[in-house]
Amino acid sequence: MSSAELRRKFLEFFEKRGHKIIPSSSLIPDDPSVLLTTAGMQQFKKYYTEPALAPAPNVASVQKCFRTSDIDEVGDESHLTFFEMLGNFSFGGYFKKEAIGYAHEFITKILGLEIEYVSIFGGEGKVPEDGESEKIWKSLGFKDIRKFGRKDNFWGPTGKEGPCGPTTEIYINGVEIWNIVFNEYYQKPDGKLEKSKIRGVDTGMGLERLAMIAEGKKNIFETDLFAPLLVLLPADLKERKRRIIADHARALAFLISDGVRPSNKEAGYILRRLMRRLISYGMGQEQNLFEAVVKNYESFYPELNLEKISNVFGEENIKFGKTLNKGLAELQKLEAVDAKAAFRLYESYGLPFEVIKEYTPNLKREDFEAEFQKHQEISRAGQEKKFGGHGLILNTGELKAKDEEELKKVTRLHTATHLLQAALRKVLGEEVRQMGSDITAERTRFDFTFGRKLTPEELKEVENLVNDAVSKNLPVMMEEMNLEDAQKSGALYFFSAKGGSASGGKEKYPAKVKVYSAGDFSKELCGGPHVSNTREVGKFVILKEEAVASGVRRIRAKVLD
Ligand code: SER
Repeated sequence: MSSAELRRKFLEFFEKRGHKIIPSSSLIPDDPSVLLTTAGMQQFKKYYTEPALAPAPNVASVQKCFRTSDIDEVGDESHLTFFEMLGNFSFGGYFKKEAIGYAHEFITKILGLEIEYVSIFGGEGKVPEDGESEKIWKSLGFKDIRKFGRKDNFWGPTGKEGPCGPTTEIYINGVEIWNIVFNEYYQKPDGKLEKSKIRGVDTGMGLERLAMIAEGKKNIFETDLFAPLLVLLPADLKERKRRIIADHARALAFLISDGVRPSNKEAGYILRRLMRRLISYGMGQEQNLFEAVVKNYESFYPELNLEKISNVFGEENIKFGKTLNKGLAELQKLEAVDAKAAFRLYESYGLPFEVIKEYTPNLKREDFEAEFQKHQEISRAGQEKKFGGHGLILNTGELKAKDEEELKKVTRLHTATHLLQAALRKVLGEEVRQMGSDITAERTRFDFTFGRKLTPEELKEVENLVNDAVSKNLPVMMEEMNLEDAQKSGALYFFSAKGGSASGGKEKYPAKVKVYSAGDFSKELCGGPHVSNTREVGKFVILKEEAVASGVRRIRAKVLD
């Protein structure tokens, strides 16, 4: 049975059983707390708490998914970055008996396959064993019912919070085929589980794995989902490399077609790594690989766009191609490559972690990521300095020419922004750190790290704290000091805020820095200008709070005349 037929049979089966068929959503999710769509339930997440919003009580889909968590496994028999997930979902409708019954019927009757064994949640912590699922499987004649804990048989949430619950899984030939999640819980951002009022079902079956079994192949790469790509690859390449190329070519074709573009952060960084790995394997000119991807998938995914894929990949090939060989030569010269050296290779020549790791298997991903993190903090700090802490040097430059009145307003908002950051840290905790800001005469826009939406109470508290500081008539003082002292004084600025001082970053600061403080309330490294007393700020009003990126929130606020 072909993979196209598997998709069709799956959707048809569930449509006949009262499910509305919903097309795959984009790989770029509308939930800013997750980078890429990792599961079929992602686009339905809100329906588990608000079923009235759902297009139907039960739905089914074939969803494009991307997981970086398996990237180091790619090349074995069954792991991928991009994959397709077949799923059926219920938002407060049917539950365990029906969900298990459907899965069993589809696998054994429709596909005629034999289930090897199943697993259920065996209980852990406060969450009890899923005896109900065990009974249902027993009633279907199963004896081999294995029990596992939270790590294996409890799923979710995606992102920081959301629906989650115990799972039951179906195995064939030692491979997990289908994961059936019973969303009985809701995980709060602090990690606490609450019993949810609405019980939901969320199932996910990997199409590639199912195709492997249904087509009687030894691994996913022999299925019709990959075979047309692999025949195009040079025969003398090692099998593992061939598989990685096939996986990455397919994944990047889908990412680019959904609008992801290479960059040094978030989804763009993931895309760049995939592209650079292909290029470092000598695949920079393999246009026919993408043609094969598009041809193999376009009837189901019409969004695949060969021209876009070729252009974006071609540009990266030119860019990276220039430094690749130098980077590889440099890498080969090194006797030992630790995380620092690896990061230098990435920074100077663009060599991604995966490529370096092939030469130095002992290199640890966490250590490299830590170096990467440090670097991002330093470069953010550099940006801040350049733009006077708040994009203000730039703004006032423009504003001054326009109007003195406007400059006054901007200056008031600038001090208000310092008070806002201090207040946010008092209410939400020290984890809040500035990610950027933009101030005009009308409003301030402040971006900061925080994992979830603020509650109305928290926003009110933040606003009140700022207004308290305003009404206390705090003097705003500027002190010039050297960086070390500024750091010791506890003034806020990028890498000191986390307590780690990255070597190599300090020299990017001038020897003397300006520190502005408003009484004991706030203290920040900044270029100014500021009002001289907080009372000049006036009444402070928060207008809006929203997400801008994964883990980053934005507040817009103004001051009243
Ligand atoms: N959300 C679950 C998973 O991704 C089941 O669909 O495995």
